[in-house]
Amino acid sequence: MHTTTVTKPLHVAVVGCGMIASTVHIPLLARNPNLRLAWLCDVQEEPLRRLAAQYDVQHVTTDYLDLLKDPTVDMVVLATTHTLRVEFIEQAARYGKPVYVEKPMAGTLPDIARILQVVRESGIPFCVGHNRRSAPAILEACAILERHRANPAITPWRLDRNSHLRPPMPEEGETMVLLRVNDDYLTWKPWSFAEGMLLCEMPHFLDLANLFIAREPRRVFAMGSTRLNFTILVEYDDGSIATLTDSGAGTLDYPKELVEITHRGAMIAIDHCLEIRTAGIEGEPFRRTFPSLDTRVKTDKAGIEYFYEAAQQTIAERLRTGDHEIFLGFPDKGHYAHFDRFAACIRGEGETPCDAESAAQATVLTLKALESCRLGMPVRVGPEELHPIVM
Ligand SMILES: NC(=O)c1ccc[n+]([C@@H]2O[C@H](COP(=O)([O-])OP(=O)(O)OC[C@H]3O[C@@H](n4cnc5c(N)ncnc54)[C@H](O)[C@@H]3O)[C@@H](O)[C@H]2O)c1
Repeated sequence: MHTTTVTKPLHVAVVGCGMIASTVHIPLLARNPNLRLAWLCDVQEEPLRRLAAQYDVQHVTTDYLDLLKDPTVDMVVLATTHTLRVEFIEQAARYGKPVYVEKPMAGTLPDIARILQVVRESGIPFCVGHNRRSAPAILEACAILERHRANPAITPWRLDRNSHLRPPMPEEGETMVLLRVNDDYLTWKPWSFAEGMLLCEMPHFLDLANLFIAREPRRVFAMGSTRLNFTILVEYDDGSIATLTDSGAGTLDYPKELVEITHRGAMIAIDHCLEIRTAGIEGEPFRRTFPSLDTRVKTDKAGIEYFYEAAQQTIAERLRTGDHEIFLGFPDKGHYAHFDRFAACIRGEGETPCDAESAAQATVLTLKALESCRLGMPVRVGPEELHPIVM
């Protein structure tokens, strides 16, 4: 359940009313008492009229300059594909509008550098839609990892053979992240295969690896097909390694996202944002569960058992009605909270949940992984690419 404190609503404009905006962003923005949907913009008339009527939105346009010129607009959400990024952000900055932009933040290294420059120079509040950063399960996992880093006590039950014969190993301080994505390519739209799931999905997951490891990446090695099945290895400057493996040949009847983090004798596993399992940290419970936002599933189960129930009910509904769009039990991946936190930032009540610099790091890694896949060899990630000097 979301616990938003109600204040004077910010007026929000959404640019790009396609799949993610119409099924996730617009319904969530409409539900948030701190936000008021004031404008919708799309180059196609049909979704504009339908969504404006459905959500009672006053203004529609096919030209985003109209909403940027409106002085009452407090926040713009760019939910087009990455074919529109730099030009829009430059214009929004010119009108002083806070920008929430979907991932990927950009499609090239020069575009990333340019966006950093515009955001720095204009000072506009800025947020990238790496929404998992705001998922309750991810926030909790970060807090557990932070507590363990601050007090990495060895559990009394840990088997330690011959500790008197050797010094502690420095590698114990590295953070190893294993991230598995089980996806079904049939659910993906044709345009997403141009550069593939790697460009579309990996900004989210490389961002999570960066969040948990919290060091500078130095090298990326990716292999496989960039559009469907691939594995990415990222090496960080302290020796930490993230392994991300994504398969588009899986099934959404099974939980999609598993993250396993090991660090100084501890394991923190985040299963599909529905549960966290922890081991090797004294005082932390083995399992915590997190509710889905979907109230349609009829069950009192929680965590992964909830997902299995939701999947069985989804299958039964699809077979009964023939409606393959039905999907029950979607976990809370932080979309609502990400908007809410960014709105608080615009009101001067907190930090942006995903600033341009951290988003740039995840986007640079994504582009480097694409390059590595194509070259068939590891590629270096330099500080000059992660932190470009913009003049
Ligand atoms: N955060 C998430 O969970 C998540 C999930 C899915 C997609 N996304 C991201 O969201 C973005 C959009 O994905 P989608 O699947 O909704 O794409 P989509 O193709 O369904 O929608 C894009 C929309 O933008 C409109 N558009 C294009 N150019 C425009 C312009 N100049 N002005 C106004 N509208 C314009 C198109 O007409 C279309 O309706 C992508 O970058 C994608 O990676 C994020």
